[in-house]
Amino acid sequence: MAYFTYKENDLYCEDVPLREIVEEFGTPLYVYSKNQILDNCRAVHAAFGETNHLICYALKANSNIQILKLLVQEGAGADVVSKGELFLALKAGFPPEKITYTGVGKRDDEIEYSIKKSIASLNIESEEELRIVSEIAQRLNREVSISIRVNPNIDPETHPYISTGLKVNKFGIDHERVLAAYRLAKELPNLRIVGIHAHIGSQITSIEPFVQCATTLASFARDLKAAGVELTHIDIGGGVGVDYHRALVHDLLPVESTTSPVPPTASEVVKAVLAVLKPTGCTIMFEPGRAIVADAGMLLTKVLYTKQSGKKKFVIVDAGINDLIRPSLYNAYHQIVPLQLRGGGTETVDVVGPVCETGDFFALDRALPTVVRGDFLGIATAGAYGFSETSNYNGRLRPAEILVNGERCRVIRERETLDDLI
Ligand code: LLP
Repeated sequence: MAYFTYKENDLYCEDVPLREIVEEFGTPLYVYSKNQILDNCRAVHAAFGETNHLICYALKANSNIQILKLLVQEGAGADVVSKGELFLALKAGFPPEKITYTGVGKRDDEIEYSIKKSIASLNIESEEELRIVSEIAQRLNREVSISIRVNPNIDPETHPYISTGLKVNKFGIDHERVLAAYRLAKELPNLRIVGIHAHIGSQITSIEPFVQCATTLASFARDLKAAGVELTHIDIGGGVGVDYHRALVHDLLPVESTTSPVPPTASEVVKAVLAVLKPTGCTIMFEPGRAIVADAGMLLTKVLYTKQSGKKKFVIVDAGINDLIRPSLYNAYHQIVPLQLRGGGTETVDVVGPVCETGDFFALDRALPTVVRGDFLGIATAGAYGFSETSNYNGRLRPAEILVNGERCRVIRERETLDDLI
């Protein structure tokens, strides 16, 4: 989180003290660094060098339209998973020829909408879906560009909920049936075969699974070429992990011992897969989500109460599981830091929210600088799968979102009001 730094013990996003932001806009609040998003995107582009490529940013990580517009300006494309995301991507200005649509359960109306929009590739996840897409395209009297999503049976060694490329996962077509699926696609009317796709999981912390996946896809591309099917692109999916443990370092912050590996950067992953994919001559597509936005965002929250219960000390904050579900859903670690460092020692606490669920926590048994009612905390590395997984559970209003650029900040989504609950 290079753009979130302490100056004189006050935490800043770029050149704006976060204390001023919470005083003006209230909490809970998502704050993003524009320059971090741009740096992340530009680093990935640079890693491709002269190779033909397309970054298809995975909207599901964060689909705020102002953030999408930044990525449009950077020349990125988009990967979407629903009609709603496709609508948003088009609204933000992504050209249809830079949009891919991947999803295991596309409804007929969603398929129809994407065919009518002439997107770059509909990534197909079953033989049945191939037939349905062909039928809908015939009815519309349109050709549709398709790729097949391969399930390569590769272990990404991540949390089981976000592992997607193993045989036991619902995604893609079993690698043993992929060539037969392409033969079927060739026979079915109105389908234009353009590529091959795989996405093996998320928050992957080593390069090896990506290289294995690239090797499988390159080998399919060669086999298909020999069988007379020339692919124009290979899509390696997203999934590059980020370092949640070492987001902010300061003398007054407790040092957490961790065994979690330092993940490779997206650029390192790109360079490693290019070595395998470049000889195919295909355009390389890459669908990072987290690697573009995670370290650009922080969730700010206010301490409502502190209380002791037996040996436990609770810090009760005004953000809840409805604002950031990752710690509860994936047992995910997010560093938690005070917006002002006072040097008053540390305590081991549970940081919990106001929601009526015991699973409503951000950290358990965590060493934290001592805080009192009214203090503000930042939950780090929350730019990906933070706001995009919010809900109104317990009648709670979704937070506002702020984008910081140097000394300026602007609201990119208003806080919900009570009327939004109706
Ligand atoms: N492409 C496809 C087809 C995907 O399904 C995903 C993520 C991505 C790309 C982007 O993956 P990324 O680069 O962001 O890892 N809610 C979970 C993550 C779910 C990921 C779903 N698919 C979390 O908070 O960790």
